[in-house]
Amino acid sequence: MKITVSFLKSPYDVKETISRIDKTDADFIHVDIMDGIFVSNKTLDTTECLEYLSDAKKPLDIHLMVKEPLSYIEALSVLNVKYLTVHIELEDVLPLITKIHSLNIKAGLAINPETPIAKLNPYLGLIDYIIVMGVHPGAGGQELIKETVDKVNALKILREQNNYHYEICLDGGVNLNTRPMLNNADVLVSGSYICMSDDYQASITSLR
Ligand code: DX5
Ligand code: ZN
Repeated sequence: MKITVSFLKSPYDVKETISRIDKTDADFIHVDIMDGIFVSNKTLDTTECLEYLSDAKKPLDIHLMVKEPLSYIEALSVLNVKYLTVHIELEDVLPLITKIHSLNIKAGLAINPETPIAKLNPYLGLIDYIIVMGVHPGAGGQELIKETVDKVNALKILREQNNYHYEICLDGGVNLNTRPMLNNADVLVSGSYICMSDDYQASITSLR
């Protein structure tokens, strides 16, 4: 199981948290960007992202919870980005997917707990990554909404039936208790379970 670590909640400052994640065998650093509009919280802006993440050793998995992703996509593409993900709840995601691909970055779509997966249908053959939100976007440390796991399972079946190539990621509420029901995901985002623990590597190993 691939693990991507979200640094939203940590007892250390952002720099220190990123450096601790970099010392583990995590696959990616999951960067949660919130604009205070698409979700009510606000996190790093693009300048802060460049400041904190330019020296990161791990590839980045950037999760844009923003209303207007285009300027973020352009500004952040200079980083070592593996996946750039926008939300399917936005008005028109096709130009965003095209833009991300034109920058040679894997394009992802994230889907909120209340959004049916049918909304992803037109894009399933185009995208490389799907972030199934296990919680309502906007904050770390929430409890997994168990019904969201059905989406992971359904997306895996759809991929098999249609030869799609996207990877399936579950984001939010991942910990040792919820881990057994998440075997059909390819990638798990975990934030507070790892970053609030005493031993980042041991927590990652326990999830794998
Ligand atoms: C929620 C974010 C998640 C979250 C994960 O809006 O997209 O990435 O920070 O944190 P935990 O693992 O604490 O639920
Ligand atoms: Zn996220």
